[in-house]
Amino acid sequence: MEASSLNTFSWVLMSVVIVITGIRAEAATAPSSSYDDESSSRRNLLANGLASTPPMGWNSWNHFNCMIDEKIIKETADALVSTGLASMGYKYVNIDDCWAEISRDEKGALVPKNSTFPSGIKALADYVHTKGLKLGIYSDAGFYTCSKKMPGSLGHEEQDAKTFALWGIDYLKYDNCNNGGLRPTLRYPVMTRALMKAGRPIFFSLCEWGDMHPALWGYTVGNSWRTANDISDTWDSMVSRADQNEVYADFARPGGWNDPDMLEVGNGGMTKDEYIAHFSIWAISKAPLLIGCDVRNITKDTMEIIANKEVIAVNQDKLGVQAKKVRMEGDWEVWAGPLSHYRVAVLLLNRGSWPTSITAHWDDIGIPSDTSVIARDLWEHKSLETRFVGNLTATVDSHACKMYVLKPIS
Ligand SMILES: *[C@@H]1O[C@H](CO)[C@@H](O)[C@H](O)[C@H]1NC(C)=O
Ligand SMILES: *[C@@H]1O[C@H](CO)[C@@H](O)[C@H](O)[C@H]1NC(C)=O
Ligand SMILES: *[C@@H]1O[C@H](CO)[C@@H](O)[C@H](O)[C@H]1NC(C)=O
Repeated sequence: MEASSLNTFSWVLMSVVIVITGIRAEAATAPSSSYDDESSSRRNLLANGLASTPPMGWNSWNHFNCMIDEKIIKETADALVSTGLASMGYKYVNIDDCWAEISRDEKGALVPKNSTFPSGIKALADYVHTKGLKLGIYSDAGFYTCSKKMPGSLGHEEQDAKTFALWGIDYLKYDNCNNGGLRPTLRYPVMTRALMKAGRPIFFSLCEWGDMHPALWGYTVGNSWRTANDISDTWDSMVSRADQNEVYADFARPGGWNDPDMLEVGNGGMTKDEYIAHFSIWAISKAPLLIGCDVRNITKDTMEIIANKEVIAVNQDKLGVQAKKVRMEGDWEVWAGPLSHYRVAVLLLNRGSWPTSITAHWDDIGIPSDTSVIARDLWEHKSLETRFVGNLTATVDSHACKMYVLKPIS
């Protein structure tokens, strides 16, 4: 390791310690009673009341990249409704990069790209709102977005936030490219304040890629924060995002969520079992569930996965606690996390190349060892006959998972 990178590393480590110590100190000295709320809202730049559960919807990037236009966005909104996905909670229709002209107008405002969004973004927001859905948009805490095909919002935060509010935008994904080397902790809060001043509750998604441990400061700045770089449509990419995201489980809570990136289910790069594991891990991790495929032309297999109401219910459980890997051995893992009503969500994941038997022990997943439970298999859609005490064992195929909700009966 070079001296300079060593210095950067110890500096980051030191800041992390300072932040954590700061949080502890505040917790220790915070007075109880209503005074609590007052002081915490003063600390919290982003008090928009959104994200009591992880956001659900669709985003254009994983399937379309820059090849988007208003027709695709409208047809996607139509498809979310006609497939029934909207009524299951998939409400955000999020436009990613490449929606604007490369130049701002004479007043400095962002301009929707005439060749692809000729009706403008406000018309699109109106359309999406008439369907009972919400419209999301994309910008960047830098001089240009990642595509370099449109400007970023750095230095234009207040104007852009006002523009978005005026158009009726409900969600902003804020990327991290072309940032001039300025620290994210300086760039992101400026947009937070701008959004708060803009007069419309707008979900704020920090796409900071995990560069400066955003989980440690993200909840005062945004409603979600990316914990890793972009996902791609492969098993290895998917599980590595899951791993990086899991480290920060303690920092997720209603109002602010860890974000391992958008879903790849339905894009064709993984097997059905792998996509089931992808969706299950995201759900139990309380990750945003943002569909990344073409929902206008969705297959039965893809619907079976992303429209699994029981798995969605785990993600949207009101307790809002992110599951953790509670035990790992070789290629297998047990993930678990508490749900409301003393229930526990459990995921048995086989990352290896052969079927294997995996056991979840009550000791590891936070159930008293003599407790008897009913196990609901969320992919078989059935409650198992056996009453389990102390453990539950299942054989899990290669690159596949089993997912259960355990409900104590004694
Ligand atoms: C937008 O494009 C249309 C034709 O594609 C053109 O007629 C119109 O002048 C353009 N508007 C602007 C503002 O550039
Ligand atoms: C729909 O999907 C099928 C196969 O999955 C593909 O052949 C077809 O081109 C797609 N249609 C559109 C409009 O994308
Ligand atoms: C699971 O629990 C049962 C008792 O309910 C016990 O007999 C069995 O040995 C346990 N299995 C494992 C793998 O720990």
